[in-house]
Amino acid sequence: RSGGLLDRFGRVATDLRVSVIDKCNLRCTYCMPADGMPWLPQSQLMSADEIRRIVRVAVHSLGAEELRITGGEPLVRKDLEHIIAGIRADNPDLPISLTTNAVGLDRRAQPLKDAGLNRINVSLDTLHPETFAELTRRPHLDKVLSGLQAARAAGLGPIKINAVLLRGVNDTEVVPLVDWAVSNGFEMRFIEDMPLDGDRSWSATNVIPARDIRAAIEEAFTLTADPRGRGAAPAERWEVRRLGETALAGHVGIISSVTEPFCSACSRTRVTADGRIRSCLFSHEETDLLTALRDGADDEGLAQIWRDAMWLKPRAHGSDRVGLARADFVQPERTMSAIGG
Ligand code: GTP
Ligand code: 5AD
Ligand code: SF4
Repeated sequence: RSGGLLDRFGRVATDLRVSVIDKCNLRCTYCMPADGMPWLPQSQLMSADEIRRIVRVAVHSLGAEELRITGGEPLVRKDLEHIIAGIRADNPDLPISLTTNAVGLDRRAQPLKDAGLNRINVSLDTLHPETFAELTRRPHLDKVLSGLQAARAAGLGPIKINAVLLRGVNDTEVVPLVDWAVSNGFEMRFIEDMPLDGDRSWSATNVIPARDIRAAIEEAFTLTADPRGRGAAPAERWEVRRLGETALAGHVGIISSVTEPFCSACSRTRVTADGRIRSCLFSHEETDLLTALRDGADDEGLAQIWRDAMWLKPRAHGSDRVGLARADFVQPERTMSAIGG
């Protein structure tokens, strides 16, 4: 095989997601355990230069068309600006986005923009300080909100807000979150909870299905399918208008991995912070790219390892309704924070 990142089911991966660190300054219940998380040793983390090299191979040899930087929490890396500046120097036209919880972004939004970052998605599940503290196990809602304002001021947009809906925790906030987001010019996105938590306490019955999310939004807004369609994106996008108004208020997205999975159109390839290729969020196999890089592999050698890894990408992730109904569904060993989302 030569060329791009093709798999057995005819999908081509052009969206690269690179995790730059497994650590985080929050402990969201759906993502990490409260404590006892075994961090990767520093020596196993990709350096800025190693990340730069891997992105260069993906873009120049494998046809990657966009890059999303994830964590853990990418801002925990002090050299994030340096990482992005290096990638930007090699790839002047590459769209580079960041998924972040925005803690500490107030001081770093402008330097990140200057380094070449284009846009951000911010994880924010609630607007209530107590609920935020319960859900993330840290009292940092104010920091997130000030980070968001700084990002907007720096022109890191369009900004999307990601909220994982949890029954009995934040599921009554659908309308307030949409209201707040569209008033601030953000796109609000609701995400079905996936079995990638640290406590292994995910349960299918606690997932708020996309159908119910749409119904909740429709208590205050009308939803119209986005005429631009969805492509390979996880989010189904909708235009929102306030009830009784004709003016567009903004957009919402719904990411329904469990009840309406979108694996057949998946265009993603992932690299963990320790330089392993994951062909799918739910993969049980990973392919070590970093060791090959450190052992001196050339660009074509690295590209071929990556092609071989993606060729084996599973057809679907198995945490959809059909997959979960099978007794053999096994949650991956890595939690969301260690994969990068
Ligand atoms: P945009 O380019 O802005 O649309 O970003 P994105 O939605 O691809 O990325 P983001 O990091 O904001 O992820 C939002 C949610 O989508 C997270 O919960 C991700 O885990 C989920 N997601 C992203 N890619 C996949 C995927 O391949 N499969 C599944 N099931 N979920 C995914
Ligand atoms: N299910 C769905 N989304 C999750 N995220 C983290 N853990 C989960 C989970 N178990 C989301 C975060 C972040 C994105 C990268 O993934 O909210 O926005
Ligand atoms: Fe940190 Fe994001 Fe996981 Fe929350 S979801 S603990 S912010 S990595």
